[in-house]
Amino acid sequence: LFAPEALVNSYPLFKRMRSEDPVHYCESEGYWILTRYRDVEAAVRDERLSSDRRPLRMNQLGSLDVKEIQNFLHLTSNWMGEKDPPEHTRLRKLANQGFTTRAIENWRSIIQNTTDRLLDQVQNLGGMDVVSDLAIPLPGFIIPEIFGVAETDRANLLEWAMDITQIFGLVGGSTIEMAELARKADKAAVQFSALIRQLVEQRRRQPGTDMISLLIVAYQEQGFNLEELPSVCIQILSAGLLTTTDQIANGVNALLCHPNQLEKLKKNPSLINSAVEEMIRFDTSVPFFFRIAKQDVTIGGKDIAAGSAIILGLGAANHDPEKFEEPEVFDITRTPNEHLGFSSGIHFCVGAVLARMELTICLTTLLRRLPNLRFDPDKQAIPTKHSILILKGFDSLPVKFDDRLK
Ligand code: HEM
Repeated sequence: LFAPEALVNSYPLFKRMRSEDPVHYCESEGYWILTRYRDVEAAVRDERLSSDRRPLRMNQLGSLDVKEIQNFLHLTSNWMGEKDPPEHTRLRKLANQGFTTRAIENWRSIIQNTTDRLLDQVQNLGGMDVVSDLAIPLPGFIIPEIFGVAETDRANLLEWAMDITQIFGLVGGSTIEMAELARKADKAAVQFSALIRQLVEQRRRQPGTDMISLLIVAYQEQGFNLEELPSVCIQILSAGLLTTTDQIANGVNALLCHPNQLEKLKKNPSLINSAVEEMIRFDTSVPFFFRIAKQDVTIGGKDIAAGSAIILGLGAANHDPEKFEEPEVFDITRTPNEHLGFSSGIHFCVGAVLARMELTICLTTLLRRLPNLRFDPDKQAIPTKHSILILKGFDSLPVKFDDRLK
């Protein structure tokens, strides 16, 4: 499943797994993998499955001394994505305060201006790499901006976030490789935490409208210690970068691979919301997620022992014909479209509203300003082939648009 060629196009393999062995035990890796919609959807809501993946991660790190990564462990000890109720409920309620209707409305202009600025830089070149020119810098600018991080700190922030995300997205990989990445993540945790602590202190004295200020108010109102706030901020900051980058690239790729759908969207831009949902269903940037069985469970007739790691195949579930009519067809008007790209239940992506806004504005602007968008016939798109990363996207996606229209 994590072989480079399977990662580039996992859907044929998912199809086989769904029909031959939908609750599959992968002996070589020691994981269970769920590929049917109904099993994955039930699993994300199953209280017997834990989101605390620390035991799994420690296992992957082999004999590495925990002291070497204590800063990383400390940082992630307050991450809502790693918690079960009741602690998850408390953290999630606080985090929700960073996503108020007013805040979300402010983001609209930040996203529009950033997209326009990025397209200004390539408009007259006749071509670009969707990944490096748009999909990376877009969330890379927007997320720090929403948190009110000074421009001088942004490059460091993005590097630290990447080092921390990497260790989260890992499955497999040699223990030596994992240990090396873990040490890097530990170093990033120290520097990232210091910067955010500094910002929390500054916003406490001089509140603004940024997300750190909103979260400070939520913490103070609930009477919680601000000590854990840097950790909460860093999870939100890190979770919003690569996921969105990869989804932008996957979405543009899906459109360019289906010219009739691309034309339909260009003719009727009001289809953008359902088009974005279909892009996420069709080729999600987060195709897998882990849970750990807290007790013995039976899923799809298979007995799974307490302590087992279970991979939830969100990408596979999104192509299940039991749920979606003609799932291999990319249809931007698909309704209903209850995909699991943002998961479901209590861990449903807290940033979904922002991700949807970024995708909607980015793609609408892209097609309006560069109507002749097409694959670059002289260059090859390069899907991310990293065999140990669970995110799915592109390292490079070269396109042409020639026109000089604004
Ligand atoms: C297209 C882009 C995105 C995709 C596909 C995506 C996907 C997901 C998925 C599948 C989960 C749930 C995992 C689970 O069930 O445990 C999740 C959780 C989360 N996401 Fe996203 N995400 C995206 C963008 C964002 C953005 C922009 C942010 C923040 C700015 C963000 C922040 C988070 C956080 C903090 C969680 C943990 C929520 C919790 O455990 O309660 N994500 N995301």
